[in-house]
Amino acid sequence: MGNCWGAKVKAENPSHDVFASDTVFECLGEDSPHGSRKGNVLSSSSSRVSASSVPPTPRSEGEILTSSNLKSFTFNELRTATRNFRPDSVLGEGGFGSVFKGWINEHTLAAAKPGTGMVIAVKKLNQEGFQGHKEWLAEVNYLSQLSHPNLVKLIGYCLEDEQRLLVYEFMSRGSLENHLFRRSSYYQPLSWNLRMKVALGAAKGLAFLHSSKAKVIYRDFKTSNVLLDSNYNAKLSDFGLAKDGPTGDKSHVSTRVMGTYGYAAPEYLATGHLTAKSDVYSFGVVLLEILTGRRAIDKNRPTGEYKLVEWAKPHLASKRKIISILDSRLRAQYSLAGAQKIAGLADRCLSLETKHRPTMDQVVVALEQLQHGKDAERNPKTEQNSSGQRPAMPRWRSWEDVGNRKIAHPRPSASSLPT
Ligand SMILES: Nc1ncnc2c1ncn2[C@@H]1O[C@H](COP(=O)(O)OP(=O)(O)OP(=O)(O)O)[C@@H](O)[C@H]1O
Ligand SMILES: [Mg+2]
Repeated sequence: MGNCWGAKVKAENPSHDVFASDTVFECLGEDSPHGSRKGNVLSSSSSRVSASSVPPTPRSEGEILTSSNLKSFTFNELRTATRNFRPDSVLGEGGFGSVFKGWINEHTLAAAKPGTGMVIAVKKLNQEGFQGHKEWLAEVNYLSQLSHPNLVKLIGYCLEDEQRLLVYEFMSRGSLENHLFRRSSYYQPLSWNLRMKVALGAAKGLAFLHSSKAKVIYRDFKTSNVLLDSNYNAKLSDFGLAKDGPTGDKSHVSTRVMGTYGYAAPEYLATGHLTAKSDVYSFGVVLLEILTGRRAIDKNRPTGEYKLVEWAKPHLASKRKIISILDSRLRAQYSLAGAQKIAGLADRCLSLETKHRPTMDQVVVALEQLQHGKDAERNPKTEQNSSGQRPAMPRWRSWEDVGNRKIAHPRPSASSLPT
């Protein structure tokens, strides 16, 4: 689940009894657009899925859980479904815990024999505390209301004593992060076309979140949160850090800075002011990772190449330079014009001035045009330069998983905000 060095974040209100069943939900956290730390989330969400189904007032934890239409699993059911959380069923590890493969009956949703029924992914929080619970609840809250082909489906949850679990549809191809950066026989390098398909799917997911139907800022867009189904359809997961967007004439939501280093927008890091354009910046970082095959932050690289954006940005405007930063494993699968356009799009998403960044709707249109237009075709010129030789490609460096650095900063004081 999207966390934020969750364990390291001091609970904003440690005395708050977060495990009481009717604890007031505080998913918006600090400065909710609804004005109160106790206030919550759903007032701007009335158009998310069905206006009639969403109460206009803040909801308590009990209300969120009972109105969610999600299955409430017992811990024992999930223990059975995952074969007692067997280590060899682990699909991945995140900051808050492990994700296990399991099986349930597709009709009754009861635990099923391994290999029968429907496959699920069970995320088990391995730490206690306010932050973990808060993000667990935010995930239930958002994913129970939001439904879109490019968002992962939440099937149910478990809240039992100290246990917090989430049950998702199983995404058989795992995360985009694994496909881009993990090297094994299972993870063959993604082709250019698949990279573009995934980028478009993820962009559609974000565009939906930003739309008037949802008005949500995702806040943790990164390759590990883009999951892929068997056909490489991309779905966003992890809504633990999501927030309702600004309401009325407000331009932003003020928050404590949370997210993941390397992906968070600079103005958000500096001010704590969160807008949909913060997500657009993170999308630009992911687009760069897709283009270059490099991680947003990679400490194993030489000085100057450690931060992907800083390293890649000067190369994005020039045709010749773009080729030099593209993932060498792509070889000649892309058209030069297409690659240039994607690089230009990434460059705009990464603009320092938020107003120069496109909206996610505009990103979707640009990616759709690229995939259906003539630039989608491979250009033989990318295979050879004018002297008949392959253009020099950067040698692929082996990577080591340094892990993404999560951030959780106290919000800067007003005096430190730029004027
Ligand atoms: N629904 C799912 N289907 C299949 N695999 C999944 C699913 N959800 C998560 N995973 C796998 O588990 C891994 C861990 O996911 P998790 O969301 O806990 O952490 P993360 O996104 O990698 O990191 P962070 O904690 O920083 O958000 C994912 O990268 C993915 O490989
Ligand atoms: Mg995740």
